[in-house]
Amino acid sequence: MKKEKVYLIGNWKMNPVSLNEAETVFEEIENGIYEVENSITEVVICLPSVFLSDFDSEGKIKLGAQNIFWEDRGAFTGEVSAKMVKNMGASFVIIGHSERRKYLGETNEMVNWKTQAALRNDLMPILCVGETLEERERGDIGEVIVGQLEKALEGISEAEVLGKLLIAYEPVWAIGSGNTPSSDEIMSVDLLIKKVLSKIYGSRAVADSTMILYGGSVDQKNAFNIVSRTGMSGLLIGGASLNAREFLGIIKSFEK
Ligand code: PGA
Repeated sequence: MKKEKVYLIGNWKMNPVSLNEAETVFEEIENGIYEVENSITEVVICLPSVFLSDFDSEGKIKLGAQNIFWEDRGAFTGEVSAKMVKNMGASFVIIGHSERRKYLGETNEMVNWKTQAALRNDLMPILCVGETLEERERGDIGEVIVGQLEKALEGISEAEVLGKLLIAYEPVWAIGSGNTPSSDEIMSVDLLIKKVLSKIYGSRAVADSTMILYGGSVDQKNAFNIVSRTGMSGLLIGGASLNAREFLGIIKSFEK
């Protein structure tokens, strides 16, 4: 594998329910990472925002949030801003995860505002795109991905995103299901994302500098193969990242 760096990003979603448990899993993963030799991996854990300030942002694991609001401050009851999570040590933020699109009614327009908020606060957005099973069965994968990307990046300049963007291809039907697309399918979406970025920005610079990840039912059995067969820049990992042994198994599979 020629890659310089592979991003392994854990998405803990709304888990665990106590700080104690979060610390236990986090520490076990971090201690395990110290034993991994010559790893090319960059490990990030996207925690529930309430736990962010309890973890060291300067350690082996970088911190991320799972959502932000699009304004930096103000009368938005219950919301958490990019500035707040940045001040708590996050350097990444997941934006437009399909669970938020589905359960919270997050639209492409909101995804666009949130991406802008992340970028202006120096947070790396992990922009999630992906088709549902119905869209896949209708043969609409391309149309869905192009639409999500074009809208998410509307009005955002090349200078704003160059080298600062991660895009996660997460087919909705693959999340938590144990099913994954074939390597060819992942590679064709990877190529499509690069084409869309080149079209939006009129050159290949943004496409070349954007890290494109795969997410959906990644575990220690398939993680390395997905990256080595498809050339993706990393993985967004849900369930398997909450189990220290499993997540460490994934990290260790990339040991040189
Ligand atoms: P999963 O979730 O790895 O549990 O399928 C991935 C995600 O939702 O980001």
